[in-house]
Amino acid sequence: MAETTVYRAGTTAPVNIAVVKYWGKRDAKLNLPTNSSISVTLSQADLRTLTTASCSTTFTEDSLTLNGELSDISGARTQACFRELRTRRAALEASDASLPKLSTMSLKIVSENNFPTAAGLASSAAGFAALVQAIANLYELHDSPSDLSLIARQGSGSACRSLFGGYVAWRMGDKADGSDSKADLVAEASHWPSMRALILVASAAKKGVSSTSGMQQTVATSGLFKERIERIVPDNMVAMEDAIHNRNFEKFAEVSMRDSNSFHACCADTYPPIFYMNDVSRAAIRAVESINAKAGKAIAAYTFDAGPNCVVYYLEENKDAVLGAFSETLGSTSGWKGGVGSQSGVLDETVAEI
Ligand code: ADP
Ligand code: DP6
Ligand code: CO
Repeated sequence: MAETTVYRAGTTAPVNIAVVKYWGKRDAKLNLPTNSSISVTLSQADLRTLTTASCSTTFTEDSLTLNGELSDISGARTQACFRELRTRRAALEASDASLPKLSTMSLKIVSENNFPTAAGLASSAAGFAALVQAIANLYELHDSPSDLSLIARQGSGSACRSLFGGYVAWRMGDKADGSDSKADLVAEASHWPSMRALILVASAAKKGVSSTSGMQQTVATSGLFKERIERIVPDNMVAMEDAIHNRNFEKFAEVSMRDSNSFHACCADTYPPIFYMNDVSRAAIRAVESINAKAGKAIAAYTFDAGPNCVVYYLEENKDAVLGAFSETLGSTSGWKGGVGSQSGVLDETVAEI
C-alpha cells in the first residue's frame, strides 16, 4: 500500500515594528542590511500570522497559499528558506535512520494574516517568521530562535526580529557569508510591562513600492542615506538600547520619532522620491505632537514603516491622554491597541498542532 501519511505542524508569529529602522541592503542575495535595527514585538492577541506546514510523499510540488490564494514561491528568498530548513532536517535524518525522510518530500504551506498584507504593517516580518517556525516545527529542528532568525532574515530582513518577543535587535554583522547577521533579545516584554502600542490604519491597500524595491532605490540614489547609516543609526542604536534598558520613555520616544523621520526623509531623498506617508499619517504626527505639548513631555511616540499606517507607543498610565486625543483628532480611523508581545519569545509554546 502506498505511504499516505501527511505530516503537519503550525505556528503563529507576531508583527514587530522597528523603532530604529532597517532600510538598505549591502548584499541583496543574502539579505544583509546596511545597518543594525531594533524593534518592539506586538502582542499576537491583535496582529498575527497563522501558518501551517505539511509534507507528504503524495504532494508533487512545494506550494504556499497566502490568504487563500496560491503565491509565487519561485523567488530566491522563499527558496533560500526552504533549502536551509531542508538541509537542517536532512542532517537530523542522516544521524538517525528511524526518522521519516521529510526533507525529500514536497512542502505545502498555508498562511493567513489577520491584518493588511503589504501595507506597511510588517506582514513580511510575521509572514516569514511564521513560515520558518512552522517548517522548523514540522521538521522537529533543535535550532534556537537566533539560529532560525538567520534563515528568516533570508526570507525578509525584518522577519529575523519576529522570532523573539519583547525588544529585539538585528545586529548587521560584518561577515561576508551573513553568519553573524541575526537577531538577539534586548529585553523581554516583562522588562517594561506598561508599554502599549496603538495601530492606526490610514490605508489597508497594498503599497505602491515594496520595501525590498524601495530600499534598493534609496541605497542607489540618496545622498542623505550615507549620513543615516554612518552616523544617525549607530547613534540611535546606542541611545535606544539605553532607553529600553533604563525604561526611559522620553528617550525611547524621541529616538523612535527621529529615526522614523530620518528614514522617511531618506525615502523623500530617493530619486525619484518615494512617499509612504499620506495626509492621515501627517495628521497622526500632529496629534502626537499636540499630546506631547499638552503633557509638557513626550508621552506618545509615532513611527511609520514603509506605508501610511501609524504605530503609536505609549505607557499604560498615559492611556487616557493618548487614546482620548486620538479619538478626537482622527475620529473614525480604525485600528488596534495592545501590549508588547511576550508569547512570541517562546514561539514554540504557541504552536498549534492542527
Ligand atoms: P510589509 O510592509 O507588509 O512587510 P513588504 O513589501 O515588506 O510589506 O512585504 C509584503 C510581502 O511579504 C507580500 O507581498 C508577500 O510576498 C510576503 N508575505 C506577507 N505575508 C506573508 C505570509 N503570511 N507568508 C509568506 N509571505 C508573506
Ligand atoms: C521600513 O524586511 O520588509 O519596515 O528584507 O526586503 O523583505 P525585505 O524588507 P523588509 O523591510 C522592512 C523595512 C521597515 C523597517 C524595519 O522593519 O526595520
Ligand atoms: Co516588510
